[in-house]
Amino acid sequence: MLRTIGLITGGGDAPGLNAVIRAVVKTAVGEYGLRVVGIEDSFEGLIGEPRARPLTPADVRGLLPRGGTILGTRNRGRFVERLESGAHQPKAIYNEAVENLRRLGIDALIVLGGEGTLTTASEFDRLGIPVIGVPKTIDNDLAATEMTFGFMTALDISTEALDRLHTTAESHDRVMILEVMGRHAGWIALHSGISGGADVILIPEIPFSMRKIADKVFEREGCGSQFSIIVVAEGAKEVEGVEHYQDMGDDERAPRLGGIGQHVAQEVGRLTGKEARCVVLGHLQRGGSPNAFDRMLATNFGSAAVRAMMRGQRGVMVALHAANIRTVPLAEAIAKRKTVPADSQLIRTARDIGVSFATPDEDEYHKHETC
Ligand code: F6P
Repeated sequence: MLRTIGLITGGGDAPGLNAVIRAVVKTAVGEYGLRVVGIEDSFEGLIGEPRARPLTPADVRGLLPRGGTILGTRNRGRFVERLESGAHQPKAIYNEAVENLRRLGIDALIVLGGEGTLTTASEFDRLGIPVIGVPKTIDNDLAATEMTFGFMTALDISTEALDRLHTTAESHDRVMILEVMGRHAGWIALHSGISGGADVILIPEIPFSMRKIADKVFEREGCGSQFSIIVVAEGAKEVEGVEHYQDMGDDERAPRLGGIGQHVAQEVGRLTGKEARCVVLGHLQRGGSPNAFDRMLATNFGSAAVRAMMRGQRGVMVALHAANIRTVPLAEAIAKRKTVPADSQLIRTARDIGVSFATPDEDEYHKHETC
């Protein structure tokens, strides 16, 4: 008999986490008469003396538009460190956490996270704690769902940044480069590049040539536009190049991508003789209030997760498919990363309207004069 659900938020935060928490609590308490306990700071709250607190409908009042997570989160922390350091038996760490769940009277878990967090969550399920996952990440890189919450808000923020860069780029006749997040997937760069009218889009899935970026800048000059806008995903790399990292990470810290935008600015400045500036959008993409779509999706995911649990499902993740929520096995959810397919319709559309991906064969596209 299921009486108490534990709620965990893990990995990097994303707009909409609090909206999911609110929906889970309202549905679990109001619809099914369950108790909800929030675990603090991801799985960290289950190590040593547990850190957790009951969540009632009163506790989630006003949460819908609030950014971040009231439970706190970690994308590494002691739990993962101890798992990976080899100094502790993984089994012992999980046993300690499971024992703490029992002490807290928690019968099942709803875990909000991306690939890494859901991988850890699936181990709890294997150990006998029923788990329902909820897909979260601004990167939108989980293959088992059409959309993760957080992505649409990050897209709005990147698009607004590109709009703002347009006016200053045009005033100064500059090349402005916006570096956006996304890890090894180019979704934020591709979507915001199109919605923000970028001239060049650089994504991890399509290695680029610096020379071809310069060609695009010259082509625009030839048509009377003295400025250009480039959006680059943090994981993008040159043909035969490597990803740029600002921190390679260690036992305690995850590797952090970053630096490609500045590199592009330097090289494009050198190749074109124009002033080039880089803006790294960074955590602005993750902070603050979720947009309307993410509030709706997060709410739908949260309620659907509780319903799935009450139907007796376990070891699954709620996922968006053709505007409806369904469930997919957690194993499937963590097995495959979703990256931008080279033959994606959106890439074709971008090329059709004259956007360059700066590939060595870029001249094959958009051959006709469009000045
Ligand atoms: O996965 C979400 C994400 O925001 C990535 O886009 C980015 O590479 C990473 O997290 C940054 O993580 P941190 O919070 O460690 O800076």
